[in-house]
Amino acid sequence: MTNDIIKSIMSRTTTNLYDPSITLSDEQIYELVKIATTAPTSFNFQNWRFIAVRTAEAKARLRKIAWDQPKITDAAVTFIICGQLIDYRILPERLTPAVEAGFMPAEMVSVLENASRGLYFEQPQRQRDEAIRTGSIGATALIYAAHSLGLGSTPMIGFDADAVTKEFSLSDNEIPVLLLSVGKALPENWPQKPRRPVNEVLDFI
Ligand SMILES: Cc1cc2nc3c(=O)[nH]c(=O)nc-3n(C[C@H](O)[C@H](O)[C@H](O)COP(=O)(O)O)c2cc1C
Repeated sequence: MTNDIIKSIMSRTTTNLYDPSITLSDEQIYELVKIATTAPTSFNFQNWRFIAVRTAEAKARLRKIAWDQPKITDAAVTFIICGQLIDYRILPERLTPAVEAGFMPAEMVSVLENASRGLYFEQPQRQRDEAIRTGSIGATALIYAAHSLGLGSTPMIGFDADAVTKEFSLSDNEIPVLLLSVGKALPENWPQKPRRPVNEVLDFI
């Protein structure tokens, strides 16, 4: 079972060493995030924010609170991928474009708003879970988009979440889910690490 997209998915690795001389323009960063935002989110809440840390000064500030990982200063950009705690009241605003595009019936909006209220209202754990899911799925789309464009990437949990929240002025409803460096990978990076056998991780029922 293969095609070009599958080959691309299966050849991705995490980049450890970046070419620090290669930068990305703000337009290129914008395009990457545009691709990432086509990833799915619960009810199409789109409860994410991508902070592109790409100046030398900002990278240095981030590296200091991210285990001093050199990729943060060497990669072209490191995204602070934020998931937002869901406030069900924002859903009509997020769904109106689909109504205006003519395929979502207008009456469906309040039905979905009610359903999302039942799921998330006064449910802090569920709101947090959803923020983590949203940030993770968005990051995944960004990782594969970058790889297909010949760029390496590094998802990172090695950072001080409280310090990142403070230093980069995240809102009260935002969680820094992951850092994600993107840039030109050096040839010295490791090849893909072996995976557990599928039989160990797949159950048929
Ligand atoms: C949630 C998560 C957190 C990670 N944190 C770090 C990190 O802080 N620093 C790092 O160098 N790699 C980090 N990684 C990369 C993993 O080490 C890497 O994905 C794993 O070893 C498998 O290697 P591969 O991605 O090359 O297949 C992280 C990956 C994930 C998914």
